[in-house]
Amino acid sequence: MTDFASWTRAVQTRIDTALASALPSPELEPKRLHEAMRYVALGGGKRVRPMLAFAAGEAVGADNALTEAAACAVELIHVYSLSHDDLPCMDDDDLRRGKPTCHVQYDEATALLVGDALQSAAFEVLAEAGASAGMLAALARAAGSRGMCGGQAVDLASTGRQIDLAELEFMHIHKTGALIRAAVLLGAQSGGTLADEQRAALEHYAKCVGLAFQVMDDVLDSEADTATLGKTAGKDAAQGKATYLTLMSVREAREYARELVDDALAAIAPFGELGRRLAEIARFIIERQY
Ligand code: IPE
Ligand code: IPE
Ligand code: MG
Ligand code: MG
Ligand code: MG
Repeated sequence: MTDFASWTRAVQTRIDTALASALPSPELEPKRLHEAMRYVALGGGKRVRPMLAFAAGEAVGADNALTEAAACAVELIHVYSLSHDDLPCMDDDDLRRGKPTCHVQYDEATALLVGDALQSAAFEVLAEAGASAGMLAALARAAGSRGMCGGQAVDLASTGRQIDLAELEFMHIHKTGALIRAAVLLGAQSGGTLADEQRAALEHYAKCVGLAFQVMDDVLDSEADTATLGKTAGKDAAQGKATYLTLMSVREAREYARELVDDALAAIAPFGELGRRLAEIARFIIERQY
C-alpha cells in the first residue's frame, strides 16, 4: 500500500481530472461563467472531502464510477460554498487557495452564479452516475438548511456575539460537518447498502472528524500565516466570528480536536486495515498546517 502522501497526491490528480471533465468547457457559452466555475473548482485545495469519499469506499471495498462521482459531487458543493462564503455579504475575503477570490477575480454576480451552477453540477454528476434517490437526498440535506447552509446562517447570526459551546458545536457540525459526513456516507454507499453497524461506525467517525476539522480551521485561522493558509489569516478575530477560540485557548482547542480524532479512530477500528485511509485522514486533520 502506498504511503499517505502519495495516496493524497493521487486522489488530488484524480479529482482534478474528474472535475475538469465534469464541468462545462470554457469554450461553451456563457464562456465567462464556465471559466469562472473552473477557476473556483480546479487546481487547488486539499481535497479532503474527495479523500474521505474514496477512503470510505475503500473501507467497504468500493472503488467504482459512483465512488468517484460521490467524491466530485461533495467537492462541487464544497467549492460552491467557498465561493459564497467569501462574498462581501458573508466573510468578505479576497484570498482563497492562494488566489484572488471569485468575486475579486470576476465580480460578485459571477461569484453568486458560479456557486449556484456548481451546486447544480454536483447533483448532475451524482445522478448521471446512477446514484440512488437516497444518495441524492442525503447530499441535498447535507447542503441545505439542515446542513451546510443552516450552519452558515448560524455563523452569520453569531458574528459579534458570544455564543455557548452547544451553539458553537451546532454551528460547526452543520456548516462543515454536514458535507464531511456526506462525503463519508456517499463514498461508502457507492459500494451498495451499508449494514447497520457499518453505517453507525462511519456516522460516528464522520461526526467527530467533521467537528475536529472546523476546530482546527479555527485554530489555524489564528495560528498560521496567510501564505501557508492560502487565505487571509486572523480574520475570525478581526471580524468577531464565534469560534472555538472565543471559548477556549489554542491549547485546549487542539486538545479537544485530538480527543475527537481519537474517538473517530476508535469508531472505525472494526474496519481493520480497510479503514487505514480513513484513520490517516483523521490524523492529518489535526496535524495539518493549512
Ligand atoms: C475550508 O475548507 C472551509 C471550511 C469548511 C472549513 P478546506 O480547509 O477543506 O478548504 P480547501 O478545500 O482545502 O481549500
Ligand atoms: C466556512 O467556514 C464553512 C463553509 C464554507 C461552509 P469558514 O468561513 O471558517 O471557512 P474559511 O476559513 O473561510 O475557509
Ligand atoms: Mg464563513
Ligand atoms: Mg470564511
Ligand atoms: Mg475559517
